[in-house]
Amino acid sequence: MCGIVGYVGPKSALDVLLGGLRRLEYRGYDSAGVSVISEGEILTRKKAGKLSVLTEELESSPLSEASIGIGHTRWATHGAPTDGNAHPHTAGDQQISLIHNGIIENFSEIKKELEAAGVEFESETDTEVAAQLLAYEYSKTNDFEKSFLSVANRLQGAFTILAINRDDPDLVLAARRNSPLVIGIGEGENFLGSDVAAFVDHTKKAISVGQDQIVKLRQSGFELMNFAGEEVQAETFEVNWDASAASKGGWDSFMAKEISEEPQAVGDTLMGRLGADGDVELTEFAGLSIADIAGINRIIITACGTAAYAGEVAKYAIEQLARIPVSVELAHELRYRDPVIDENTLVVAISQSGETMDTLMAVRYATERGAKVLSICNTQGATLARESNATIYTHAGPEVAVASTKAFSAQITAGYLLALFLAKALGKTDQVAKVGKELLTLPRKVKKTLEMIGDVKALAEELKSTESVLFLGRNVGFPIAMEGALKLKELSYIHAEGFAAGELKHGPIALVEAGQVVIVIVPSPSAEESLHAKVLANIQEINARGAEVIAIAESGDVEVANYAKRVFYTPKTLPLLSPVLSVVPLHIFSMELAKAKGLDVDQPRNLAKSVTVE
Ligand code: G6P
Repeated sequence: MCGIVGYVGPKSALDVLLGGLRRLEYRGYDSAGVSVISEGEILTRKKAGKLSVLTEELESSPLSEASIGIGHTRWATHGAPTDGNAHPHTAGDQQISLIHNGIIENFSEIKKELEAAGVEFESETDTEVAAQLLAYEYSKTNDFEKSFLSVANRLQGAFTILAINRDDPDLVLAARRNSPLVIGIGEGENFLGSDVAAFVDHTKKAISVGQDQIVKLRQSGFELMNFAGEEVQAETFEVNWDASAASKGGWDSFMAKEISEEPQAVGDTLMGRLGADGDVELTEFAGLSIADIAGINRIIITACGTAAYAGEVAKYAIEQLARIPVSVELAHELRYRDPVIDENTLVVAISQSGETMDTLMAVRYATERGAKVLSICNTQGATLARESNATIYTHAGPEVAVASTKAFSAQITAGYLLALFLAKALGKTDQVAKVGKELLTLPRKVKKTLEMIGDVKALAEELKSTESVLFLGRNVGFPIAMEGALKLKELSYIHAEGFAAGELKHGPIALVEAGQVVIVIVPSPSAEESLHAKVLANIQEINARGAEVIAIAESGDVEVANYAKRVFYTPKTLPLLSPVLSVVPLHIFSMELAKAKGLDVDQPRNLAKSVTVE
């Protein structure tokens, strides 16, 4: 939700900024812009559309060389995606330039005050208010730092703002409240970014800026202070992936590459946490004692989007293995319904980015009520990890495509580890070794699933004019049906709904008519108390009404082939662990269908990867 980059150093500021924006474009891509200071002047270029529109503009009308600058890629909140509303926003007759990520809640009040003082506005954005206020304060004080502090204290809502001033061509000031900001520390150069992707090809030494903190960034170093102007200590961390991990590496899309990395994402998430005997060790639990765990009487898993479906799978695993009651709540609903949360509640927050505002707010709400918070997160230095008692990092590596694929596989895997860990801690060990050992086979089986899928392009081509697709699943297949439907909506803009297969006859069957495509996740025929026969009966009910069934089924399930137009087979595993495999064909199918429609699978319309506003 808006990408931010700042730079001071000897390199071409423009090159650094555009490189950073390229890596941050997943955060928003409806307009982009840069400002640099060159020979005492602020020079700005900004354009509606993707970053490529800006780079073309810069090629035809280059900016002068500069060693300081700020850059922004936007996901519009206030004001349409136009050139004028794009960031940076300049003010005070090009005195200062400012970029922003978040929502300034008191912008209209400040705007009225400034207008009454004679300030004229050029855009419809909340951001310009911050820029104009900063220029106005500076015109009175002639002190950039003091003016910036005063603006940071005046703004309400969520904001990371970066500002430069033509009178000080060696200083970027930044403030962070409720939106992410990371410092990159280089040799004789320094960086700011919404996340480490902004500067990872220049330095791996980073600092996660805390809530309500200000950064003074210069070529020679940086200072960190709170909103009262008092110095605060910084903790550095090393980024554990390199720039090549965030490049396409020969694939035609980030999504194709990231789906191909699902086996590795699962394997890396298990690495060092599961012994050959299936015994689980989670050192990350240091922030939560055994007494804390023993005192837990319920778990609430909270997340948004794809991460919430990973949470649904974790619910089945935790209840089956550790016998603790679990509910899954969308983060934006949780805190508005007066939920029962106390010190005996463990809240498990799942987020790839660790910056989703809805999830962060739910976590803060739960913490205030005494709950312990454990997060499952893919991003080092993320706010969510900072605000949790303990964090299980998913080691999926950087995920650039906006719709999540490999991070989802890693989140489910981390959910299984958590279930095993809780079961072990509570002495409920009867299934631990069996599930743990089978979990170790999953990276190989995910790889095998990818190999077994075969050509999906012909099917995608055939179905590209389809207007609606239904997804059915049962037990752990139900959240996978929901995830399949979400991915298809996100990528191909086709109406899609996921249902519990048992619910079919209670309503959704009314939608089934000749030609309707229904994708069914079929449970294993070999499981105890198998739901296989019941789901097969559902398939026949669908067929009887002329619909076309595509099935995801376990290898060896020949019966299902009699009723389905196409079957994607997955290797045998324990039913509980099957989601890691059955989701793979769904990810590929959605991607291929979107590609057949000529759509951009990495940057679907209207979406942003990291939603840092409520
Ligand atoms: C956005 C993205 C989704 C993602 C969700 C949660 O809505 O478009 O793909 O699943 O945020 O993101 P998180 O970073 O919290 O996992």
